[in-house]
Parts: sequence; C-alpha cells; structure tokens
Amino acid sequence: MSEPSSPLAARRSVLVWDLPARISHWGFSLSLTASLLIAFRSDPESAIFKYHILAGMLSGWFLGLRLVLGLVGSAPMRWGCFFQTLTQIRTYLGEIWAWRAVDHFGLNPGSAWFALLLYLLVPLVVYTGFVAEWVETWHGRLSYGCLFLIGIHLLGLAAHALRHREASPLAMVHGRAKGASFDGLTTPNTGAGILLLLLGLAVAGLLCRYFDEATSLLQIPYLPEISFPLIQKG
Ligand code: HEM
Ligand code: HEM
Repeated sequence: MSEPSSPLAARRSVLVWDLPARISHWGFSLSLTASLLIAFRSDPESAIFKYHILAGMLSGWFLGLRLVLGLVGSAPMRWGCFFQTLTQIRTYLGEIWAWRAVDHFGLNPGSAWFALLLYLLVPLVVYTGFVAEWVETWHGRLSYGCLFLIGIHLLGLAAHALRHREASPLAMVHGRAKGASFDGLTTPNTGAGILLLLLGLAVAGLLCRYFDEATSLLQIPYLPEISFPLIQKG
C-alpha cells in the first residue's frame, strides 16, 4: 500500500482512518497508557490501584474491538494490511535508510509490525495480571515491553512528521492523511463510530460500577463473575 514520493503540491489530503478506527485507536491507547501510568505511580496498597486493573481490562475490550474491525472494518483496518512481503519490508527499510518521504494508505510496514507486536503483548500482560506466580515478575517485565513499543511508535511518528514536514501524526485525530495517488475512504462511518464510543463508555461504566474492591470481584449482572488478584490494603 505504498506510493512513490511525489511533489508536495500534488499530495491531496484524503480520509484514511474512519471514526471506528479512531475510536479503537484512542480507546486502546488511552486505557493502556492510563493502566501503565497508574501502575508506575502507585502501589497495590493505594486507593487508585483498582483503576490500574480496570483500565487494563478496558484496553482488553478495545483490543477485542480492534480484532473485530480487522475483519469487518474499513480497508486500512483489515488484517491483510498487516502482512507485508519481504520485498515490501526491504523497500520500506531502504526508504528509512535514505530518509525518503513515502506515502502509505494506512499503516506503513514499520507501524504494522509495531501494532502486531503490541497486540500480541497486551493479552500476555493482562493474562499475567491474573496469575499469582507471575503478577510480580513477568507482568511487570512484559509491560516494560509495551512501554518500549509505545516509545518506538511515538519516535516513528515524530520522524515521519519531520521527513514529510507536516503534522502527519494528527491523521489519527482528524482521520485525513496526505497522499498523491491513492483514493481515500468514501465514508467516515460516523454512526458506527458513535455507537462504538458509547459502547466503550458503557463498558468503562460497568467496570467501575460492579468492581468490588473489598473482595476483588467483578460481578456484572447476567455475566460470569471474574475474580481479580486481591488488592492488598495497608
Ligand atoms: C501513547 C499510546 C499510544 C498507543 C498505545 C498507540 C497505538 C497505536 C496502534 C496499535 C496503532 C496501529 C493502529 C491499527 O491497529 O491499525 C497506531 C497507529 C497510529 N497512531 Fe498511535 N498509539 C499511541 C499514541 C499515539 C499518539 C499520541 C498519536 C498522535 C497524536 C498517534 C497517532 C497514530 C497514527 C497517525 C497511527 C497510524 C500510523 C501510520 O499511519 O503508520 N498514536 N497507534
Ligand atoms: C486486567 C488486567 C490487569 C490486572 C488484573 C493487573 C494486575 C496487577 C497487579 C495485582 C499488580 C501488582 C503486582 C505487585 O504486587 O507488585 C500489577 C502491577 C503492574 N501492572 Fe498490572 N494488571 C493488569 C493490566 C495491566 C496492563 C494492561 C499493564 C500495562 C501494559 C500493566 C502494567 C503493570 C505494571 C507496570 C505493574 C507494576 C509492576 C511492578 O511494580 O513490578 N498491568 N498489575
């Protein structure tokens, strides 16, 4: 999905990330970042620690949503975009080496690998959060892996903005990116995006409402009970 570099004037701004894509990105990235920040800035005895667990669960919800969008979402969200041929990866590495600006409709191969690794790592972090023998060892180590990947992502976005001399990271805010010869999406799927936003807020509300800190149990009516590692107090 890459295009050769082209004169800046010829590069139109087209819609690449529809609203469901942006809700999925920001829901996942904000909840993951909140979970990380709370874990680093508090300990299991503190009053806010339960939000570490709840934000971690919410990032799991948004990851589940991303898996579904990979099957039924807009073109740049489909799973097929994640798997590049060796030639495409070689070309991409050559572009980076030559510090050349190239447009991509959707994820470039670097972002695709970053996202795949993060999507594999987060379920492991969430899983180890529930396992008593691993929560104090592997859980923390794996979450440093997430932190490392997020750092690479932010550096990559900054490098891309510098190469193109434009605010390309904001593509995930307004949905539009510049490209010379690819056509954008024809619809922003606003209705579906609003529905996913409301659903995400509802899940966050249910997690906060039905998590009992004293017993470390999540008991949402009509759903199976989930038992969390007991949060030690005092
Ligand atoms: C801090 C936590 C963040 C995380 C965990 C994160 C995660 C991700 C993930 C997983 C993707 C791949 C999307 C997909 O599945 O299709 C992605 C793409 C993207 N993110 Fe983030 N992100 C974060 C912060 C940001 C910030 C602060 C911005 C800029 C304002 C941003 C802008 C973008 C853009 C533009 C893409 C598309 C990349 C491309 O076109 O190659 N992200 N991000
Ligand atoms: C539902 C999911 C999660 C559960 C049940 C959970 C549970 C826990 C618990 C009980 C601790 C305290 C461990 C101790 O006693 O020192 C902890 C620490 C921590 N968690 Fe989570 N967590 C979850 C999700 C996440 C996520 C998504 C991240 C970030 C990627 C994360 C990052 C951390 C970090 C960095 C620590 C501190 C580790 C340390 O001090 O060594 N957790 N978590």
